[in-house]
Amino acid sequence: KKDRPKIKCATCSTVEPQDLTATNSLTRYAKVLTSEFNSVVIEHHLKWAPLVHSIPGPIHQTAPPSTRLGRYDFHHVDTMVDFAMKHNMHIKGHVLVWHVTSPPFLEDMTGDEVRECVRRHIFTTMGYFKGRIKMWDVVNESLASDGSLVENVFYRKMGPNYIEECFRWAHEADPEAFLIYNDNKVECCGKGYEGGDGVASDANCNAAPNQAKADGFYNLLKGLVQRGVPIHGAGMQAHFNAGGVKHQRPPTPAMVKRQIRRIGDLGLKVNISEMDVRVSKLPSSGSDATAMKIAAQTQIYRDILSAALSEPAFDGIWLWGFTDRHTWVSNFYYDDAPLILDENYKRKSSYFGVQEALKTV
Ligand code: G3I
Repeated sequence: KKDRPKIKCATCSTVEPQDLTATNSLTRYAKVLTSEFNSVVIEHHLKWAPLVHSIPGPIHQTAPPSTRLGRYDFHHVDTMVDFAMKHNMHIKGHVLVWHVTSPPFLEDMTGDEVRECVRRHIFTTMGYFKGRIKMWDVVNESLASDGSLVENVFYRKMGPNYIEECFRWAHEADPEAFLIYNDNKVECCGKGYEGGDGVASDANCNAAPNQAKADGFYNLLKGLVQRGVPIHGAGMQAHFNAGGVKHQRPPTPAMVKRQIRRIGDLGLKVNISEMDVRVSKLPSSGSDATAMKIAAQTQIYRDILSAALSEPAFDGIWLWGFTDRHTWVSNFYYDDAPLILDENYKRKSSYFGVQEALKTV
């Protein structure tokens, strides 16, 4: 449709660079990736700690602050970015500032030193990929379950304005880049389930969706926009669980639509940034168990994506992997199958659910 932004249905990779090319030919993984998708997100290797930890460098605590950043080793990411460019795929940079994958030496620095390190990290990384990576998750998962800011190393050392500072540096580093704030369990707005809102009421529970956090997400974005911070998009991760107890159910399509709508009204674009749908908590025995898992997973992929795609502010879908052979979920949840191709790259029912949703565009 006219004005419809290009949909980037994407993925990559819990896998290592060597999974992309075998000697002079594409691996199975790479063949499927390039034939089914048009965009790539690198799941791990572009984060701060892996970039500076992979080689020995002067990152020891005894080194003077100016040298503690260490030398950057971009060769893993280069391999993946070159691969994506060769196959005409978009690349989203994930992620510049996330406390979970920041180098531990930040803890021993003063606020000014941390600020300088973060600034240099943003300039170094964005500068290196300028012209190749045009879209970045700048800050990731800074919100706690109650919608307040997590008191992570950046918050403690730099103060509550650190997110704003990161976006301003990112814009300075590459004024052409599209800059995104990304978070999880923020995909809902308002009531959705019969007989109540059905969303997490316990602020501490590890559930999706969580209305308090979703409101915190909206308010954070609103504040950034109102202060004129250069931010262009919001990423809602969408790591869903089809089979959880009531407070872990995914949001309804209507809830997702409302969240996209109100963020769009701020002038921002919205994407679903890391979608997968776990099913292992659904019954695993009984004659209908498998059919139930397949149906629930398919429905969530199809209906959430259709709802999102019907919103003008929505501009992209990234799945967090595509084959059940390679998914972060298997490191945390036993025997799950959250993606749209099975372990042997066979299309699942959820694949056709996604395809159906895309047809509505
Ligand atoms: O690269 C090394 C490899 O050389 C080594 O042999 C292997 C042994 O453990 O580890 C490999 O690194 C792992 C990497 O994934 C690549 O597979 C890291 O240990 C592991 O910590 C890393 O996990 C990633 C995690 O973020 C931390 O970066 C997951 O793949 C990735 O799916 C996950 O993604 C996050 C998003 O960034 C933010 N939202 C939540 C999402 C899921 O947790």
